[in-house]
Amino acid sequence: MVGQLDLIATATFGLEAVVSRELEALGYAPKTIQPGRVLFQADPAAIARANLWLRAADRVLVRMDAFPATDFGVLFDRTFALPWHEWIGPDGSFPVSGRSIKSQLSSVPACQKIVKKAIVEKLRAAHGVTTLDETGPRCSVEVALLSDEVTLTLDTTGPGLHKRGYRTLVGKAPLKETLAAAMVLLSFWRPERPLVDPFCGSGTIPIEAGLVGRNMAPGLNRPFAAEAWPSLASAAWEEARREARDLARPELPVTILGTDVDDEALSLARYHAQQAGVSHDVQFSHRDFRELTSKRDYGCIITNPPYGERIGQRDDVRALYETMPEVLRRLKTWSHYVLTSHPDFEQLVGQKADRRRKLYNGRIQCTYYQFHGPRPPKPTAEHEEPAAAAPIEPAFGSVRITCAAGRRAASRATASTTATSPRSRWPSTPMKAACTSPSTTAPTSARRPNTPTGST
Ligand SMILES: C[S@@+](CC[C@H](N)C(=O)[O-])C[C@H]1O[C@@H](n2cnc3c(N)ncnc32)[C@H](O)[C@@H]1O
Repeated sequence: MVGQLDLIATATFGLEAVVSRELEALGYAPKTIQPGRVLFQADPAAIARANLWLRAADRVLVRMDAFPATDFGVLFDRTFALPWHEWIGPDGSFPVSGRSIKSQLSSVPACQKIVKKAIVEKLRAAHGVTTLDETGPRCSVEVALLSDEVTLTLDTTGPGLHKRGYRTLVGKAPLKETLAAAMVLLSFWRPERPLVDPFCGSGTIPIEAGLVGRNMAPGLNRPFAAEAWPSLASAAWEEARREARDLARPELPVTILGTDVDDEALSLARYHAQQAGVSHDVQFSHRDFRELTSKRDYGCIITNPPYGERIGQRDDVRALYETMPEVLRRLKTWSHYVLTSHPDFEQLVGQKADRRRKLYNGRIQCTYYQFHGPRPPKPTAEHEEPAAAAPIEPAFGSVRITCAAGRRAASRATASTTATSPRSRWPSTPMKAACTSPSTTAPTSARRPNTPTGST
């Protein structure tokens, strides 16, 4: 297989921009084509690199074709015309999944059947066989219709990219690894700065931060569906893994901390950190949030506290959030990043966020609140935040904010991403400020991944 492919990185709604920046950092030119879908053109080697390196994406697909269709004849003919035989061997298995939104071809099972039939006929003719036993490598096909536009894709990933391989035991309400990584990538944290997750649970945020800080490819230790495909040279995977091993940094300059009151969760966290290869970079200890303090300056809190979604927990969570101003005021020079679905979060902490971003934790719609502390005095990272006009500390508890209902009545503005506070002195696109160098905008050839202090 030669030439450029159309590849799609899929992502949870709200993370498209994060994935786009990751792809830019890898040297590709991404374009968001639909909610949750980022298209990029690249050579076949990009399948291995994207699967290995993308932290916030769900999977990497090959877009076989996209075309309008309102009848099954067109769907069959266009599907049959594609070079499926270049991807699927005579023994390959190719389950076809489907979805249809706002399209005349609304029967998903019928679309799946037509596509399957067209691929079967193509493979029989192209491979010169009469039967296809489908006992070989799995090459999952999807037929997706949106407003009468068909997109046919092959899934190169297999189990979703959030399955890094290190989380073998399940904690209570863990974040998906992809979301935890996105929270880190959206922050101004750099490996030179302290990082604490005071509600760490099974440790997903500190572990993902450890991987980010050490520039470790999150997919290095797991297999991918396309590795078994006859169409992709195993050398591409070997090369991508070699590159990933070469680029990992040996250790972090500052240890990341995760604390929690649940000892069982902390044991899981320690085990998972070990599995992920970051146990020397991340420490976990038992501590109540209310006791949080630090002698260090210019750190970051990145956290996912309890939300109180279930009845019976709401009052406890409210009481917990009301302790936040006192605790966070102790960390005067720190930046704070909090993911929660609680509608009155800003009111309870008495501080308007510099920036809010709508993100989904599974099916729960959350907001990622970003409170930017002052910029560290002597930047050591290659790419630093733009200079602050003046160091302004978040003064939790100082701002009176109306509750969610009042806010809704006052303003119906619910954009998914909103730069808010007039006191914000950092730009409204932190990742971009943090990660771009002039060259990242001209990705004509693949670049060596150099994550987060640098590039994703
Ligand atoms: C939503 S879970 C965090 C899940 C975590 N992000 C993960 O991926 O596993 C919230 C965590 O807050 C912890 N927690 C609740 N109250 C606490 C408190 N007062 N101090 C410290 N931890 C607390 C719970 O034990 C729970 O592990």
